[in-house]
Amino acid sequence: MSFVAPIDYLHTRFSVKFVQQPGPSDEDLDKIFRAAMTAPDHGRLRPWRFALIRGNAIARLGELAISSIKAAGLPLAPEKENTTRRWLDKVPLLIAVACRLDHTNTKIPEHERMLATGAAVGNILNAAHMLGYSAFWSTGLGTYVDTVAEALGFDALDYRFMGFVAIGTPIQSMAPPERPDYRQFVTEWTGV
Ligand SMILES: Cc1cc2nc3c(=O)[nH]c(=O)nc-3n(C[C@H](O)[C@H](O)[C@H](O)COP(=O)(O)O)c2cc1C
Repeated sequence: MSFVAPIDYLHTRFSVKFVQQPGPSDEDLDKIFRAAMTAPDHGRLRPWRFALIRGNAIARLGELAISSIKAAGLPLAPEKENTTRRWLDKVPLLIAVACRLDHTNTKIPEHERMLATGAAVGNILNAAHMLGYSAFWSTGLGTYVDTVAEALGFDALDYRFMGFVAIGTPIQSMAPPERPDYRQFVTEWTGV
């Protein structure tokens, strides 16, 4: 296999929802979370919190999400219920993501803490890719239904719940998508 520079490999990251075993080994999970810890973080609050969900707990989370969405009176088509169960049946690992608000600190605005947590998730996605896995950040599965977050230990008073990252091996091999030319998104300000 020819050598690919890490930066070139990083450029091929893309999200894959439908993943299966193998998921990250404990050693790889350690590397993934160490990458999360390097996220930029105003005030070094380390606001990110993660809950691992694996094994039989994944199906339990799926049932909790489905029943909580229904109990909240939100629409959920029967077909969506089934596709959710089929999806989760194969997923080796979910990481639930929350941002801790820490009300004792009034200096750093909430949105900066959420951005730091999002940056930590970005590092998780990149680290998973660099280790040969695929990942997908979802705010489905009852992310915005408080009972789901509370069951995971993230009450709405102290946390903003930010969804789930699925990590594993793609069920179907896929080529990286074409990305837009970044020049459309970049300007240069010269001050003159
Ligand atoms: C905070 C956040 C929440 C997301 N939630 C969902 C979701 O619930 N369902 C979905 O299909 N994609 C969701 N996405 C988008 C996918 O994770 C993914 O980024 C998108 O499919 C584009 O793929 P790419 O990462 O390869 O560019 C979310 C992305 C972010 C950043």
